[in-house]
Amino acid sequence: MKEIERIIRVDHAGERGAIGVYSAQLLVARVLHKDLVIVLEEMLSHEREHYGTFSRLLKVRGIRHCYGLPLWALGGWVLGIITALLGRNAIWVCTNSIETTVLHHLKWQLAFLKLHDAEAHAAVLSIKKDEEAHQEMGQRNGRNSIIYQPIFWLVQRLTQFAIWLSTKL
Ligand SMILES: [Fe+2]
Ligand SMILES: [Fe+2]
Repeated sequence: MKEIERIIRVDHAGERGAIGVYSAQLLVARVLHKDLVIVLEEMLSHEREHYGTFSRLLKVRGIRHCYGLPLWALGGWVLGIITALLGRNAIWVCTNSIETTVLHHLKWQLAFLKLHDAEAHAAVLSIKKDEEAHQEMGQRNGRNSIIYQPIFWLVQRLTQFAIWLSTKL
């Protein structure tokens, strides 16, 4: 079914974007926010696992990946660099914003896949716990004060746009 292929493809691309974000933040954090290195490394390892899960699913089913994959990687990386340079709080607000948007999507995907595809449902479900933990960490550590609300808003719009675009590419 086309819709299922699209879901797997978008999630796969999104994980590539997440790898970009955390890799870039990690790069900056090694210099500016050393205490965040361990936690960023941990989140990056989760995203690599998630990416692997969807890569395997694409391969097994002979589905092509999203043509926008390099865009996700680059966009994520740029976003990661900018937020990390803005400071530790921007890192956490960015994480919270991305994961909030992602979890919103996972919710309808899971409801849809539950009815149509047990294997894809299991794959999406397997990443949900980690994304919730990332969101929680972002909320706990990031002060979503008035200065940071535009960052939350902007990152949310960017994530939504990237997800929309990926359904077309
Ligand atoms: Fe992920
Ligand atoms: Fe995540």
